[in-house]
Amino acid sequence: MTIASLLTLALGLAASVAAAPSSTVNRRATCDRAVLLAAADAYVASQTAGTLASLTALTAKAGFSYVENNVKKDMSTGVAAKAVKIDSRRTIVDMTQCATFTELIAASNKPPYVIGTQIHHAGDGSVALVDSVASTTGSWLFNATATLMYARQEKWDPIPAEKRDKREVIQAAGDAYMDLWSSATAQSRVPWGTPCSRLEGGAYTGKGLPTDSCAAGIPSNHSQAPNSNRRYVIDEEMGSVSILCVWEHMMNAADSHEFRLEGGKLRYVHTMTECGGRTCRL
Ligand SMILES: *[C@@H]1O[C@H](CO)[C@@H](O)[C@H](O)[C@H]1NC(C)=O
Ligand SMILES: *[C@@H]1O[C@H](CO)[C@@H](O)[C@H](O)[C@H]1NC(C)=O
Repeated sequence: MTIASLLTLALGLAASVAAAPSSTVNRRATCDRAVLLAAADAYVASQTAGTLASLTALTAKAGFSYVENNVKKDMSTGVAAKAVKIDSRRTIVDMTQCATFTELIAASNKPPYVIGTQIHHAGDGSVALVDSVASTTGSWLFNATATLMYARQEKWDPIPAEKRDKREVIQAAGDAYMDLWSSATAQSRVPWGTPCSRLEGGAYTGKGLPTDSCAAGIPSNHSQAPNSNRRYVIDEEMGSVSILCVWEHMMNAADSHEFRLEGGKLRYVHTMTECGGRTCRL
């Protein structure tokens, strides 16, 4: 996260704390699910239309940031400002951090995209940060047609309240997986589940079998550069954590990983990895 966006979030938080009675000095109290979902919808509407109006109506008046593939830029020059025909859209909601993550799959668009976008809100509900990984042709294992086909086979329904994992458990699972490249002990910390399917770009480890595993093809070399600068959106109802980061061991790529746990075990992993406009290579 950039200094400016951190500052924006901090200022927003300070403003909301100042305005709140002391008994409700808690960021949680300021998260309004309807506001968060309205902003995610506005983002999707803007992306579909190719005009930013729906989204910019909700952005913070001061200090709004747009980050695309780990680079801060003017949103009007980014993928967010292009008209994109969207085939699939799925959003998770973080009611503690006031944020959302939306996965967009645009297989029939020219060019095709698979986009992962975190939207972080300031204390007053306005949009402080749009942080996006926009993968396309040349990105790691990119094939949006395949991504769409496999994503549509999966079931991401809300987890019944009594079966939900705590946000710390969900985040720890995602972090352990992201540590696999740089830590020899990470593998034992990942709550591997079976079945588990990983949608890595357009490649899929799921065969529809009860034995499907996400441990297939994980790194055997744990001495690689880490996955750094992690930004999180965590949704207990969906059992999911989105982590955007720098994929240092592959061309310092911009990376999006989303994990879903069911009953404390890994069920789905979705990845997008964009290598600064170049073709991703190991
Ligand atoms: C992308 O995936 C689809 C569906 O599996 C497949 O038919 C197509 O050949 C793939 N395209 C490329 C370029 O690999
Ligand atoms: C593991 O990765 C590091 C960093 O890329 C590299 O220097 C080292 O040679 C690799 N070790 C093996 C056994 O491949």
